[in-house]
Amino acid sequence: MVISIPEFEKKVKEIKVHLEQLLQNEKSYDHVLSSMCTPPSDLTRFIASEFAEINLGDPGLFPKTVELEKEVLEEIAQILNAPKNWVGSTTSGGSESNLIGCWAARNWCKEKKAITNGKILLPKSAHISFEKTIDILGLEIDWIPLTATHQIDLEIVKEKIDSRTVALVGIAGTTRTGVCDDIPALSEIAVDNKIPLHVDAAHGGMILPFLDDIGMASPSFDFENEGVTSITIDNHKILGSLIPGGNIIFRSQEYTTTIEKRISYLSDSQTRQITITGTRPGNSVIAAWVLLKHFRKEFIISRVKHSMELTKYLLKLLKGIPTLELAFEPTLNILGFSTNKMTTEELVGELRKSNWDLSIFNQWVRIVVMPHFTKEMVDKFIKVLKEVLK
Ligand SMILES: Cc1ncc(COP(=O)(O)O)c(C=O)c1O
Repeated sequence: MVISIPEFEKKVKEIKVHLEQLLQNEKSYDHVLSSMCTPPSDLTRFIASEFAEINLGDPGLFPKTVELEKEVLEEIAQILNAPKNWVGSTTSGGSESNLIGCWAARNWCKEKKAITNGKILLPKSAHISFEKTIDILGLEIDWIPLTATHQIDLEIVKEKIDSRTVALVGIAGTTRTGVCDDIPALSEIAVDNKIPLHVDAAHGGMILPFLDDIGMASPSFDFENEGVTSITIDNHKILGSLIPGGNIIFRSQEYTTTIEKRISYLSDSQTRQITITGTRPGNSVIAAWVLLKHFRKEFIISRVKHSMELTKYLLKLLKGIPTLELAFEPTLNILGFSTNKMTTEELVGELRKSNWDLSIFNQWVRIVVMPHFTKEMVDKFIKVLKEVLK
């Protein structure tokens, strides 16, 4: 059946209206307390649609966007205090970056130490992407318990290291508590044992470096620490760039030569990729470039400040509810609590009935205070929470 142009245009209008109605509830973050993502600005939305056709997987066709990607990576490398020989790539986000970091570590150990049946030491707080990673890479996990401060237990790390260990992993801002592992200490262990150390700063990487700008302690987690060989850091979390968008940065090319693939069939016939994905969205990188190069450090600081101030505000209100128990004192923009009135599943279920989205981690309900939070939103939530706990 052939559709005439007027018919097609009519259909487009109808579909737009239909989509607006169908997805209207999915567009608002007004009641979302569970996400590490946050809605993009109008400018970012404009970039999303205006540059939707740009594919960074075929750099010969889009040389200007390739330059912008280099500039994004330079900014990120600077944020992470990377040494001058760093290499890296933009990725689809934290999961892909973690996979690439561990892939490179496994191959480096195979080449340098002839390890073929490797193990990775992972803190119990590691994001689920590491479980996917070890499955894909055919590695074993040695789970490392956490200390009372929710950090990787360094004594157990030292005990568990053996001749099959191909990577240590530290988390700079865990998904469940926001806590930063003791990366300087992990780095020393990594150097002493000549084992790559991958740091997952998917969430914390865009927050921790800016905490001292707002008068808070900023733990060291980046390439200042000699043993850190690769770092994951996302653009689609607190920065608010387009979904999906992240980065992986390596200390030097030494760690990427064994994973790099040269692709001859693309338009510049010399493309080299260290990513899992081939086709990659240019608009996400352009959006990150605008945020990092035009709005700069001050923009990130204002978002971090906003989120941390509202975290403190929300914390104070939560502490005022006698039937709630805090799971930990927050160090970043993540809060956790439980109640003796009902299970965490019941609590989240009750709040969901009033449209509030929260997530469950271990024994507690988790809130991530992102830039879309407002004081009014927090006040509304606390009112509902008190009702539910009555
Ligand atoms: C610490 C950490 N690492 C990795 C990821 C995975 O990131 P993505 O969802 O971008 O793949 C997350 C996501 O929440 C995270 O919190």
